[in-house]
Amino acid sequence: MQRLNIDLGERSYDILIGSGLRAQVGEFLKSVLKPSRIVIITHPSINSLYGEEVADGFIAQGWTTDIIEVPEGESSKNLGQAEKLYDRLLELNCDRKSVLVALGGGVIGDLVGFVAATYQRGIPFVQVPTTLLSQVDSSVGGKTAVNHPKGKNMIGAFYQPRLVVADLETLRTLPQKEFRAGLAEVVKYGVIADENFFEFLETRYEKILNLDSECLSHIIETSCSIKARVVEKDERESHYRMILNFGHTFGHAIESLTEYSRFIHGEAVSMGMVRAAQLSHSVGKCSEETPNRLEALLKNLGLPVDMPELDSSAVLESLYHDKKTMDRKIKFILVNDIGSIEIVDQVSEVEILKVL
Ligand code: NAD
Ligand code: GLY
Repeated sequence: MQRLNIDLGERSYDILIGSGLRAQVGEFLKSVLKPSRIVIITHPSINSLYGEEVADGFIAQGWTTDIIEVPEGESSKNLGQAEKLYDRLLELNCDRKSVLVALGGGVIGDLVGFVAATYQRGIPFVQVPTTLLSQVDSSVGGKTAVNHPKGKNMIGAFYQPRLVVADLETLRTLPQKEFRAGLAEVVKYGVIADENFFEFLETRYEKILNLDSECLSHIIETSCSIKARVVEKDERESHYRMILNFGHTFGHAIESLTEYSRFIHGEAVSMGMVRAAQLSHSVGKCSEETPNRLEALLKNLGLPVDMPELDSSAVLESLYHDKKTMDRKIKFILVNDIGSIEIVDQVSEVEILKVL
């Protein structure tokens, strides 16, 4: 098992990564908290796969444990679903020492984190991420949110979990499309912070796609470690944390203009990263080799790289609605070289349109 720590003063916590950890979450938690009761929140399908094993680990510690199911899908990440959860937590007499456990992907993690941040002004929660995306990205760093009809992740809070336990074995039941989408975020870490890691992905992509345990452990640990170092420097995204958004500015525009139904997040990020790298080359930040290498790696990992048919001016308008855009200045994370990036807000519309 790998143990990483994210150092955020009194909000610090461990990220545990290994095979078969799901049955031991209770054991790990007992050295962190003394819960009055545990409430696991998950989707029905994940409950039938892993709910009982996770719950048994808490029951073995003598803790009263309940499981609440919420429907799958992004549409569960809303205030209505949060309210249903508050109702259930009140019915169960949950108090401020009750601990919520988010068992699932980013949808569950974001929703449960938001409910934990707001129920009785904040109760502890634990992330048990079961998708690659949630193991390398959403379970770490404390961004919690629900969606609003006018935009994704519009209502939320920075609220850190008390522990993250990533069980690699759960990835074996994850649909391949979801696994590949998570790999887009893994590639992102190589581009923004670590050329050696990028090279590792270039040379081991076949093993990774075959779920080789050592490779999986290495890519998850490296990704979490890079994310932890970024979040430690800028927990509330005043500036530097934006680098985690490499490829997301274009990616979010693609997702929004295709009504969040044609591509899953990581697929849109893959296409977005290629656009961001091409833009970087076009404005003279990097050589042509950089976007070419990135595109080749993403293709090898089975991710889409070509822009879908979209009206360029609609994409441009969507970029102006990005959460990072301020005073009509679109912020881009541009790459100077693999492993080295910068945040730029002075790219002309002409340059942007060239890559669309
Ligand atoms: P998801 O949570 O919807 O999970 C994808 C699908 O896989 C679901 O149908 C789920 O039931 C299923 N699933 C999950 N684990 C499984 C397993 N082990 N075996 C079989 N099926 C499994 O999607 P996601 O990609 O994990 O997360 C996307 C969400 O994460 C979005 O809402 C996005 O906004 C959010 N996000 C948040 C952050 C953050 O920092 N908080 C970062 C990135 C993304
Ligand atoms: N997923 C981007 C961030 O956590 O900041």
